[in-house]
Amino acid sequence: MIERLQSPREAGTRFRELATAGETIGFVPTMGALHDGHLSLIRRAREENAIVAISIFVNPTQYDDPNDLANYPRPLGQDLKKAETAGADIAFLPEYDELYPDDYRYRVTESELSRELEGAHRAGHFDGVLTVVMKLLGIVQPDRAYFGEKDWQQLQLVRDMAAAFFLDLEIVSCPIVRESDGLAMSSRNARLDPAQRAIAPEFYRVLTSGRDESSMKQALENAGFEIDYVERRGDRVLGAVRLGKVRLIDNVKI
Ligand code: PAJ
Repeated sequence: MIERLQSPREAGTRFRELATAGETIGFVPTMGALHDGHLSLIRRAREENAIVAISIFVNPTQYDDPNDLANYPRPLGQDLKKAETAGADIAFLPEYDELYPDDYRYRVTESELSRELEGAHRAGHFDGVLTVVMKLLGIVQPDRAYFGEKDWQQLQLVRDMAAAFFLDLEIVSCPIVRESDGLAMSSRNARLDPAQRAIAPEFYRVLTSGRDESSMKQALENAGFEIDYVERRGDRVLGAVRLGKVRLIDNVKI
């Protein structure tokens, strides 16, 4: 059985005990509703560490839309089974009051990249992400922490935060896991109706088309997407689009 830890204090004690015993700890932070994308991170952690821990916590401080937060799926029993099958030993399942004893008076704020792309469309989002990741890393103190390239901007910001605060761990980036039609796996995909689900893979096809930004946007609009942004950054093109109320993000290497 996967070992469950709930309070930060209890978790901190357990992880220190493991570290003292010389075990390497790989850590995969999640918000649950686990799919093959999350599981690929857990499997990778399994290959590289003696102990694999995940966290499941739907972090309210990274949501600007209370509806999105309220509708976030929370299938805890299934998640624990999937995580265990993929190789996780420990699930850390904190509650808001315990993880935020300060009620979010203290935050990690980044002042450049976090304001762009996703940050320009989701006020305060990355403050919430970086703050919760900092808390989780402080409790678990892993040797390695695993993040998906699906959330490319999050990955860059976490990596830079670890360097800025001299966090003694390795941030491991993991490739995007996709459905067979190219759609990046996401817990939000389940909220697409059949017509939207049929259009959704066009997002990936357009991003990989090699066209310039404005013709990609045109092609997406023609296909029925509303566009938050499509932008080239270095060797990547990143995008966020909406189909009805469902927001999708993706990025590809050019
Ligand atoms: P969540 O959306 O649950 O994602 C957890 C991790 O799984 C992230 O690192 C994300 O990039 C990765 N992931 C999601 N879909 C993926 C896919 N299709 N392929 C590869 N990796 C994928 O990201 C968060 O949670 C939160 O912001 C969190 C970091 C836990 C902080 O609250």
